[in-house]
Amino acid sequence: MGKVSAAFSLKHVLVLSLALNVGLILRVLHEGGGEKNLEKENRDAGAGAGAVMASKEAHAGMTSSSSTGAAEAVAGGGDDGSVIDLDHGDPTMYERFWQQMGDKTTVVIPGWQYISYFSDVRNLCWFLEPEFANAVVNLHKVVGNAITDDHNIVVGTGSTQLFQAVLYALSPADTSEPMSVVSAAPYYSMCPLEDYTTCSYAISRPIDSSYPLQTDYLKSGLYKWAGDAYKFSKDTPYVELVTSPNNPDGSTRQAVVNQSEGILVHDLAYYWPQYTPISFPADHDIMLFTVSKSTGHAGTRIGWALIRDREIAKKMTKFIEINTIGVSKDSQLRAAKVLQAVSDSYDRDGNPKESKAFFQYGYNLMAERWRNLRAAVNMSGLFSLPDFPVEACTFSRRAFEPQPAFAWLKCEGEIEDCESFIRKHKILTRGGKHFGVSPKSEVLRNKIFTE
Ligand SMILES: Cc1ncc(COP(=O)(O)O)c(C=O)c1O
Repeated sequence: MGKVSAAFSLKHVLVLSLALNVGLILRVLHEGGGEKNLEKENRDAGAGAGAVMASKEAHAGMTSSSSTGAAEAVAGGGDDGSVIDLDHGDPTMYERFWQQMGDKTTVVIPGWQYISYFSDVRNLCWFLEPEFANAVVNLHKVVGNAITDDHNIVVGTGSTQLFQAVLYALSPADTSEPMSVVSAAPYYSMCPLEDYTTCSYAISRPIDSSYPLQTDYLKSGLYKWAGDAYKFSKDTPYVELVTSPNNPDGSTRQAVVNQSEGILVHDLAYYWPQYTPISFPADHDIMLFTVSKSTGHAGTRIGWALIRDREIAKKMTKFIEINTIGVSKDSQLRAAKVLQAVSDSYDRDGNPKESKAFFQYGYNLMAERWRNLRAAVNMSGLFSLPDFPVEACTFSRRAFEPQPAFAWLKCEGEIEDCESFIRKHKILTRGGKHFGVSPKSEVLRNKIFTE
């Protein structure tokens, strides 16, 4: 981790929120989305960066525009006026895989079915579909990334709803001041530090989700965003969000505040083997997961929480009951089908049963994109990327370095305002100030965060 923190020092002059699905976006833009078969896809993913970048296909890759040198490495917008939006991620890069799965994940629901509000009245979370709950348990068993025994499952409309439910559930009932909510910077955010309460930037964007915004949007009297966990020193109740791997920088994280009054919420949205080595089964009291990042089904809007304490799980259930009277059964069944299909493609020892195994596909895709990105960055001499430690993955039994869904890019040398520089080349990114990076950092002195 030492290496990682060094790489993430205050020298950073820009965070490039580099959604790795850009390859497919560009494919759609440039090629009209032609189909290839999975085997070919996997072979491509295994090819060296040079071969990939030299090919015409390179125009579809994350760093495709770098194929002919430094200038073009950042000038990916193309002469045709197209703009690359790397401001937020959308996991459409997995679409091709799911297409190849054909009817294995098709769900047909007759009009008469699943009409009731209720799923299982005996369950603490009465709107949790048993099929979905089973699929969650099975998948965690196969991957080995979380302990489900001794935990209650609460389903939510994305982990976004679960985040709000957990804040509601953890807030002390008898408090005169709102409970503080913190996360170590850089944290999952769209809002500039000085602007998070109104956050006009985020509100004007098509997806305006983030910890500060979700915490403060309704100006709750129960809880309040208190910013960077490294700077939190109050002796009052607080919740620390531990996002691991972290969005936006991909680092593996632990709690930083460590005071007695604190409760930890582990956001493990990216703790899946296509993004990071699975080093142990997480066994925290409060863990959040989502299909958006695990299988890419962001539009299904399904997340799940693993909650050790029954009372907290009950309160979260109450929040969701008041908020949306449960969670779409149709979506839960679809999510169940998808999660179960992933589990079924592995044997008891975690070996893929067939060539179409989701995590292998995802791993290869991410590896290819990181290889290409690193090659382009090295060639350009303008940027640098963090180095991550190579770690063993208990699921895939290979050692690899994390290959996050976002790239935390640093501009080197003469470029004063990296976000603007990249924008001039028709690539939209999200600068570091949106992620709570300190305004006292070297970054600001270099005026890099100045719009
Ligand atoms: C760290 C993290 N948590 C939660 C979410 C939201 O997930 P969902 O789509 O399930 O609401 C995201 C989405 O980008 C995320 O990056």
